[in-house]
Amino acid sequence: MEFSVKSGSPEKQRSACIVVGVFEPRRLSAIAEQLDEISEGYISNLLRRGDLEGKSGQMLLLHHVPNILSERVLLVGCGKERELDERQYRQIISKTINTLNETGSMEAVCFLSELHVKGRDTYWKVRQAVEATQDCLYSFDSLKTRKQEPRRPLRKIVFNVPTRKELPIGERAIAHGLAVSEGINTCKNVANMPPNICNPAYLAEQAKILENDYEKVSTEIIGEAQMQELGMGSYLAVGRGSQNESMMSIIKYQGGDDDSAPIVLVGKGLTFDSGGISIKPGEAMDEMKYDMGGAAGVLGAMHSLAELDLPINVIGVLAGCENMPGGNAYRPGDILTTMSGQTVEVLNTDAEGRLVLCDALTYVERFEPEAVVDVATLTGACVVALGKHATGLLSTHNPLAHELLNASDQSGDRAWRLPLWDEYQEQLESPFADFTNLGGRAAGTITAAAFLSRFTKKYHWAHLDIAGTAWRSGGKDKGSTGRPVSMLTQFLLNKSGVEQGE
Ligand code: BES
Ligand code: MN
Ligand code: ZN
Repeated sequence: MEFSVKSGSPEKQRSACIVVGVFEPRRLSAIAEQLDEISEGYISNLLRRGDLEGKSGQMLLLHHVPNILSERVLLVGCGKERELDERQYRQIISKTINTLNETGSMEAVCFLSELHVKGRDTYWKVRQAVEATQDCLYSFDSLKTRKQEPRRPLRKIVFNVPTRKELPIGERAIAHGLAVSEGINTCKNVANMPPNICNPAYLAEQAKILENDYEKVSTEIIGEAQMQELGMGSYLAVGRGSQNESMMSIIKYQGGDDDSAPIVLVGKGLTFDSGGISIKPGEAMDEMKYDMGGAAGVLGAMHSLAELDLPINVIGVLAGCENMPGGNAYRPGDILTTMSGQTVEVLNTDAEGRLVLCDALTYVERFEPEAVVDVATLTGACVVALGKHATGLLSTHNPLAHELLNASDQSGDRAWRLPLWDEYQEQLESPFADFTNLGGRAAGTITAAAFLSRFTKKYHWAHLDIAGTAWRSGGKDKGSTGRPVSMLTQFLLNKSGVEQGE
């Protein structure tokens, strides 16, 4: 897809389609008003006859509107003018893109980027439009032998901005939006890849691809032999039942000074989580291929970051591993010695994510990080608490938590904080080891984070539980969402201090 910005009046556009908004009830946006005048009331006539109410997401495609140079005009319902919010804006853009893609317009000039969205500037509106467009044009069809593509797909879209002064801002918004979308696509592609292809070695290959594509990226792959030397007894135990070697991929992006402390992102990379000996029930078990969604998110954010060429240092860790039952698998009752030296009694082999992450979190101490954010499809309890809408955020450092919540608000990639008080630590007590890997039924998301917090004392740390947000479940619509790449990238953009809106 090709994107550009322009500042012009609608009647002068000579395009396959121009896209303008109509509010409820049957009220023309300023731009639609201009078209209506030129066409001598053609549009207002249609509305009066009841062809379009203006409800959010309604579409009416017109051909050969009198005195209009463009072949088509797409009227887009935007709901009540005062109620247009961020979520609705994105939804309207997505519906518009789908309509254009299915109705033969290979290019369009879109005036929806001029709609008023409370508290949001041109930069935000154009960038969100680019991200929403790329999101809805994505499909994972590399393993289909018969692909379904529209006959005349949308190729080019021009977003209009109100003044010429805003053209550079619009261009920056496109560049940023494209970089974020590239990372999101990378995340979706690896997350959707089936577990017979996407194993820990495959994750390592994806890291290598980034290294090859970007000057500032270098990688290091840590296999089982090296984990042994490092004393990562907990991480290794989880992978023992699998034929696929555990691999931790370290991706270093050096955009800042040599001596500036890096931000570290650690992603849970369970390329398949069967539950191990504490095996999961069969229903929807295929979806546990998405248990590497944290690693996919980190990879995607590293990709966006490299594409944006930000002047900071960031290290991404993909903690690749597969949790399988078998004669060599770890078992409930085992006591593991983690890299930190602390011992853990395994009460359930399905609480494996924290056992992999804890050693990865100890490993990253060596980078003396400014902050560490781990990203994981860690608990089913998070889906119960927050559903598919918000990522769970837990942190022992308030400023870091607020920075992430801010990034989440700016990007529309929602997160909600849960408490991490000391009281919850009691649920992890063990009669035989330092603590257990299981906190019981109550507050499962929090006790999982409480477990991790015992390994993150040496730096500022936050944890994102993306169990509900990383993918969509169920039938035809199933697939990776690319979350939380846009939140993470926004966090890094803010950290870097590069210019965004005005
Ligand atoms: N990967 C799962 C968490 C998960 C489950 C994410 C379903 C998304 C959907 C994790 O490894 C797991 O199995 N967690 C257990 C923990 C429990 C045994 C304490 C869970 O949530 O049931
Ligand atoms: Mn599990
Ligand atoms: Zn898991």
